[in-house]
Amino acid sequence: MLVAIGSDHAGFEMKIDVIAILDELGHEYIDYGTDAPQSVDYPDFGEKVSAAVSCGKVERGVLICGTGIGMSIVANKFPGVRAALCNELFSAKMCRMHNDANILVLGGRIIGKDLAKEIVRIWFTTPFESGRHLSRLRKICLIEQKVAKTKIEKTCS
Ligand code: RB5
Repeated sequence: MLVAIGSDHAGFEMKIDVIAILDELGHEYIDYGTDAPQSVDYPDFGEKVSAAVSCGKVERGVLICGTGIGMSIVANKFPGVRAALCNELFSAKMCRMHNDANILVLGGRIIGKDLAKEIVRIWFTTPFESGRHLSRLRKICLIEQKVAKTKIEKTCS
């Protein structure tokens, strides 16, 4: 699997740990930065990874910022992106089984290195269950198309 990975300064160290797990699992990756612990703006890195997933250049993505919240907000603006913030194991498993999440988001200031590594392992090895969950994902696609076509005032009643 080809994976895009990115972080801001608050996720920089954890990104190195996550890359080690990607190597262990045999996945290739494109590292979109950041490349140093100096302060940067998370939307810049969230955009690069999310665009790569959205256009199909890579199959999955991993994003890390301090809480994981900023990166999640950015990532879920992109068509076809299903980004899931997982700071514990249950969500990491369920967002793959039920939501076919294609971007994993981690909070570098919330969880420790060992838990992060375990979350990444589970997220990459858990398959999508499909079945009834597929029709729900199709509904999300339809909403995405509707929102793209319609002015937001019209969808807000
Ligand atoms: C950076 O200080 C911090 O705001 C960022 O990493 C992230 O937590 C934003 O959601």
